[in-house]
Amino acid sequence: MKLGRLNHVGIATPSIAGSVATYRDLLGATKIHEAFDLPAQGVRVCFVDTPNSQIELLEPLGENSPILKFLEKNPAGGQHHVCFEVPDIHKAKAEMEAKGAKVLGEPRIGAHGTPVIFVHPKDMGGVLVELMETPTNAH
Ligand code: CO
Repeated sequence: MKLGRLNHVGIATPSIAGSVATYRDLLGATKIHEAFDLPAQGVRVCFVDTPNSQIELLEPLGENSPILKFLEKNPAGGQHHVCFEVPDIHKAKAEMEAKGAKVLGEPRIGAHGTPVIFVHPKDMGGVLVELMETPTNAH
């Protein structure tokens, strides 16, 4: 296992529109992608590009959205996870588990259309970590 590129930082928000305004007006973000629904993960997603990475804005979608629980504890939103790229998601999952880390669920298709897993924060110093297979058409 070799730590790959920081693909994005996930930020939970009660309002993608509100957060987009903040990133655009306060920080000067100019490349803001169209928001889209990701029902399998219970989120609506909007990517904001930075020169070397992306911010992934996450709004709750549906009643079982994991973001709802997060927003109950953090009503204004906040940092939800960080995402690193790995060459092979199944190898990464096997290696995480062999090293004793708790992987949350099976690999599933993430917001970039490549498979992802999440590693429990208890094994990562309190940070929820997403690992995603490097997209073949990496931007
Ligand atoms: Co993510």
